[in-house]
Amino acid sequence: MVYSRPLPADVVEALTATGIGVQPLGGPLRYFSEVSSTNDVAADLAAAGAADGTTVLADAQRAGRGRLGRTWFSPPGAGLYVSCIFRPPSPSLTSVPGLGPDGASAADATAIHTRLTLATGVALADAVRAATALPVDIKWPNDLVVDRRKLAGILCEGSAVGSTVEYVIVGFGINLRSTAYPREIANRATSLEAELGRPVDRGLVLTHALTSLRDWWMRLRAGRFDDILRRWRELSPSSRGARVEWTGPSGTIRGVTDGIDANGALRVLTGDRTFQIVSGNISWAS
Ligand code: BTN
Repeated sequence: MVYSRPLPADVVEALTATGIGVQPLGGPLRYFSEVSSTNDVAADLAAAGAADGTTVLADAQRAGRGRLGRTWFSPPGAGLYVSCIFRPPSPSLTSVPGLGPDGASAADATAIHTRLTLATGVALADAVRAATALPVDIKWPNDLVVDRRKLAGILCEGSAVGSTVEYVIVGFGINLRSTAYPREIANRATSLEAELGRPVDRGLVLTHALTSLRDWWMRLRAGRFDDILRRWRELSPSSRGARVEWTGPSGTIRGVTDGIDANGALRVLTGDRTFQIVSGNISWAS
């Protein structure tokens, strides 16, 4: 087990300046200089009984990970690496289709993940816009992009016991500073400082991110998923009318995006049919 350290002064200053204090999500904010992955630390804490809203922040990750088994490049000080523990109330998020009085089924657990992922995308896009005035967009399902370059990513992981979702770990990484990205992502990644051409206050971005996450989590808990979908659609112009491609069982499929449905699946029109994509990797097609 690694032990947390006192919060850095700039983070304390930014959090207290907003008046929300150092427990923005209602649970303790734990800071580490380096961890394997903040999602792993948060999962260990959650398994040991950590409260809803407990948040893990690290300066660097040795084994930061992204969706679909990818690596999340996490050198010291170059980004915000954060994971939050959310414990859905039981019965959780009562507007999830099929959610019965006994708690969440496996299908419901997937729905909770999808909803939290979409809510987090909205929360972070709004937070970055508010903290920096940079007009970031969302690329389905949950990448924050500027001119098609990736600025931030979200990885939701969880634990269910029987049919009850015990907790969901919402991990997010936001690129703050220009850094030497690995060659395979160098022309697809960007950072706040690269976009803005000026230094960025990480405490301010973190404060906005956690405050916004708290607000959208409260909406989700209140069953206001429609609000999340509406805002998500506003923030994701590329989810309608963009040419995309992905790899299907028999090769590359190309189509045009046609919005997301009420469950957060991306609709793509290929001419002869409509695909509803629930997970996976979509690329821009030229
Ligand atoms: C993606 O876009 O593929 C998701 C990237 C998620 C990265 C964050 S950084 C903090 C947290 N810890 C991890 O190991 N991953 C997430």
